[in-house]
Amino acid sequence: MTATIIDGKAFAAGIRAKVAEHVARLKADHDIVPGLAVVLVGEDPASQVYVKNKGRQTHEAGMKSVEHRLEADTSEADLLALIDKLNSDESIHGILVQLPLPDHLDSDLVINAIDPAKDVDGFHISNVGLLGTGQKSMVPCTPLGCLMMLRDQLGSLSGLNAVVIGRSNIVGKPMAQLLLGDSCTVTIAHSRTKDLPEVVRRADIVIAAVGRAQMVPGDWIKPGATVIDVGINRIDKPEGGTRLVGDVEFDSCAEVAGAITPVPGGVGPMTIACLLANTVTACCRANG
Ligand code: GUN
Repeated sequence: MTATIIDGKAFAAGIRAKVAEHVARLKADHDIVPGLAVVLVGEDPASQVYVKNKGRQTHEAGMKSVEHRLEADTSEADLLALIDKLNSDESIHGILVQLPLPDHLDSDLVINAIDPAKDVDGFHISNVGLLGTGQKSMVPCTPLGCLMMLRDQLGSLSGLNAVVIGRSNIVGKPMAQLLLGDSCTVTIAHSRTKDLPEVVRRADIVIAAVGRAQMVPGDWIKPGATVIDVGINRIDKPEGGTRLVGDVEFDSCAEVAGAITPVPGGVGPMTIACLLANTVTACCRANG
């Protein structure tokens, strides 16, 4: 069997087009422009690339984009003061603080200072609780993108066995909640899981979100399973230079799976598309 390759780039472009249409309608009918503020502390190169892409795509969708780039040694008090200001700024509907933050800043404290209604990342403890209890919340962007691709590929997910590899607050845990919400039987596997290959072999849906290059080989995959690869890892090429790979071994998994996301061009583009969609949602909720 050769898997269907799930084209996240095209899927994300479709979502961005719908977001842009919605934004144009908000402007034309109500003179409202959704606004997203992104806060970056320090100079982490990967974070700088993400933040730049977020800003560009926010603009392209017709929204207001504001970037706050702060020095790596910014104090917690100064960062909290900025968040306070953004919380009360009526032109800003979404606030995203890029993670990871420098070690001297308490990420939980900072994230929980964001107005939950503007928390387009869905990381605030209120949104985590709402998601966990099946109530209307802001949903974290990467897991939301994965869920949209799964529904598009499989239709109903009800009763399917889903294994999420990785238990991060950003991806693994919210992904498990979303799959449970769609009536999957969900297992969260992690570095202490016993006999991981056997656990993964039972899965109709595999979500790999551990951040370890090509960790999942094809012989762990149940024939016909849908494989969603959240990993973005840079590895050396034998001939020199580097390339991006996911957490699954793409070629061997594609031989066995029913469908699989590539890296790059799978989950990655969906994350920013969902961020834009969440910002429009926050704006609509703020304006009744
Ligand atoms: N760092 C890596 N992924 C994310 C994300 O989805 N949101 C934020 N704020 N920071 C991140």
